[in-house]
Amino acid sequence: MRRYSVLRLQPKEQDQIDFLHNVYMNDVKFDFWKSPSEVGKEVHVMLPDDVEAKFLPLLDARNITHSVMIADVKKVIEEQQQKRIKLRKQVRMRDWREGKVQFNLAQYHSFADVINYLNALAVTYPDRVSVQPIGTTHEGRQIPLIKITNKRSVGQKRGIWVDGGIHAREWVSPSTVLYFIHQLVTQYDRDAQIRGFVDSLEWYIVPLLNPDGYEYSRSSNDPEIRLWRKNRSPAKCIQQSSGLFQPPTTTCCQGVDLNRNFDWFFGQVGSSTDPCSEIYQGEFAFSEPETSAVRDFVQRHRISTFLTFHSYSQILMYPFGHQVRTYSNDLNDLRSTALLASQALRSVYNTQYKVGTGADTLYPASGGSEDWAKGKAHVKYSFLFELRPEEQVWDGFLLAENQILPTARETWEAVKVIAQQTLSLP
Ligand code: ARG
Ligand code: ZN
Repeated sequence: MRRYSVLRLQPKEQDQIDFLHNVYMNDVKFDFWKSPSEVGKEVHVMLPDDVEAKFLPLLDARNITHSVMIADVKKVIEEQQQKRIKLRKQVRMRDWREGKVQFNLAQYHSFADVINYLNALAVTYPDRVSVQPIGTTHEGRQIPLIKITNKRSVGQKRGIWVDGGIHAREWVSPSTVLYFIHQLVTQYDRDAQIRGFVDSLEWYIVPLLNPDGYEYSRSSNDPEIRLWRKNRSPAKCIQQSSGLFQPPTTTCCQGVDLNRNFDWFFGQVGSSTDPCSEIYQGEFAFSEPETSAVRDFVQRHRISTFLTFHSYSQILMYPFGHQVRTYSNDLNDLRSTALLASQALRSVYNTQYKVGTGADTLYPASGGSEDWAKGKAHVKYSFLFELRPEEQVWDGFLLAENQILPTARETWEAVKVIAQQTLSLP
């Protein structure tokens, strides 16, 4: 078994960035948790020990500052699993109850558990909850959407789209979105603001947009599997020349990066045509069942606000992310809303978020859903959240379960600000 570690790199000059970017685009043995963008921004990369042994001298030769962020990824995954098993036992003994429907929001769940929870809500609260599939994945799973609105209040209402789990390994995202669902449904009778949100808006929420990838990431403690990002589309192959006088080799890989597969500058900066890349864009825009399901649903409904949840880095992004310094005409509306939302978020546990476009705060990436929603589907408010942890914290995608509720609580405050803004649209 190979040992996997995560390195933290601090490039300080442009040629160091260029070197790392070349690795990022051309060497699929490296799994960039945080990819290179510009001088001063950290890079996090997971790699197996044999690759690390060859890579470290290259870093030293280029004077790239590096340190170990996680020495043994597998060990951390296993420790977290042990903790989860312990916690499950305690919880069972206490026999917790959340409202009328049992579901522990403080832990990571299987897709089957999520389905059961959503269906239980629909049965228990039929006057404001319904569940419907919006598409079927490559592996045959139905992607559930939960619609929350007061079915008795009539008239045209604005729609808010929320999705989580587009990237498989970002487990805190679906968990956070499930918390929103819980709040909207169970606080209806207790909280006048939430009553307003459910009476006067239509919430269309997909907590787990990429169930195939998510279930795959849950299926093993092997870092290559737990840290899976893409969906599970069937393998595509490419021929690679392996050097002079050698026959080309064929390599085949599964999965499309769903957040490169939307129709917004598809196939340009920050995406790859290599099926083995973590940022493989797919054969054409909306080639995937998950992304075409989003497109079809959003186009057929009156969506004013589009919220999509990722981890990690603590950034609240508005369009456009495909290249730096590129904004919509109503930038001021989006920016002021994002700033208000991030202030509300901070007010809970003093968690600091950066605010800006994906390209300006993280790295340019084409084919992203938040850009498509604004640029092509013409929603008013389109935001992408990169949830906890911040980049200084060591655990990245392996966020511990005790972080779920704090993350969800603070993020809900931001979402309420955006929902309130949506309500006050003319
Ligand atoms: N972590 C996200 C991703 O890689 C960020 C995308 C930001 N959006 C953008 N269009 N740049 O998909
Ligand atoms: Zn993501």
